[in-house]
Amino acid sequence: MQGGSGAGYGWRKTRKKMNEGSTMKENQTFLAETLDGLTRQPKTLPCKYFYDERGSALFEDICEQPEYYPTRTELGIMEEHAPEMARALGPDLVLIEYGSGSSRKTRVLLEALENPAAYLPIDISKDALFPSAESIAKEYPKLAVLPICGDYLSPLPLPEATPTENRRAVYFPGSTIGNFMPDEALSFLHRMAEQAGPGGAVLIGVDLKKDAAALERAYDDRAGVTAAFNLNLLARINRELGADFPLEDFRHEARWNEAEGRVEMHLVAKQACEIRVGSERVAFEAGESIHTENSYKYEISEFEALAAQAGLRADRRWLDPDEKFSVQLYEVA
Ligand code: TRP
Repeated sequence: MQGGSGAGYGWRKTRKKMNEGSTMKENQTFLAETLDGLTRQPKTLPCKYFYDERGSALFEDICEQPEYYPTRTELGIMEEHAPEMARALGPDLVLIEYGSGSSRKTRVLLEALENPAAYLPIDISKDALFPSAESIAKEYPKLAVLPICGDYLSPLPLPEATPTENRRAVYFPGSTIGNFMPDEALSFLHRMAEQAGPGGAVLIGVDLKKDAAALERAYDDRAGVTAAFNLNLLARINRELGADFPLEDFRHEARWNEAEGRVEMHLVAKQACEIRVGSERVAFEAGESIHTENSYKYEISEFEALAAQAGLRADRRWLDPDEKFSVQLYEVA
């Protein structure tokens, strides 16, 4: 990469965007992380930038696609088994949820819980967090709802125990754990165990291994919504970092990687090209890809072994009739 002549224009665009929302520091971090990823071999991009306003809307849309089974299957498991989950979790529970989003599955759980003491949704997006926390607070007037806006990956101070609480449980639905590398998933499970505390519980949605074709279809729906979601990352980089990715020259690809046990999301350059990003230039060969995201799939036994390393003891688990997806309950040892 070398310095380009378009730097001034890129900077003006960047600054305009900054005034529209993100801070200068956030923008510099976004640029630095983007350039870091694009200068690696193979190229990558940081997946946390998928979720701008359009990305979040597209993701909601992915969840409705006929090929994308996880959302609907997990919701079905919750609807079928929430009473048993609630019994296992016990009364007067403090429920901590990561990446709460629209909290649809949580409502099913809250509905079944006996006299829950508090609900602490944690989400990085305040636009997703506060409206849904507010509507839950309205629906459950006796429940203390304490939304916490922040990155659940960095240490977050949680409120002190209340006199009425019995135990704490961390709820992490959506198989988002599958978007972490296994070593990151492990340290994250440690964090959950820590936040639930001794005697606490972890309830986690985990997508399961299945045939490759079904997995690839789930991440490459016919309507092209997942493709649009993946490509939106390039559109966002164009918009916010003054880059000039020609979106029509990149295509979305979902690949099952059997050896790693994950579906990989890629953006593949259809032809050789050179892209300006901020003041830098990045060259692509024809067929070269940017690896944007992973979605790991687990066997029940694989995931239990991982959780055990974090001091979590497998308690119960619930599956859909076709055994596509699991909701697993762990006790903090
Ligand atoms: N947690 C979801 C999953 O792995 C996220 C997701 C669904 C996703 N489709 C995607 C992430 C496409 C990136 C690209 O199933």
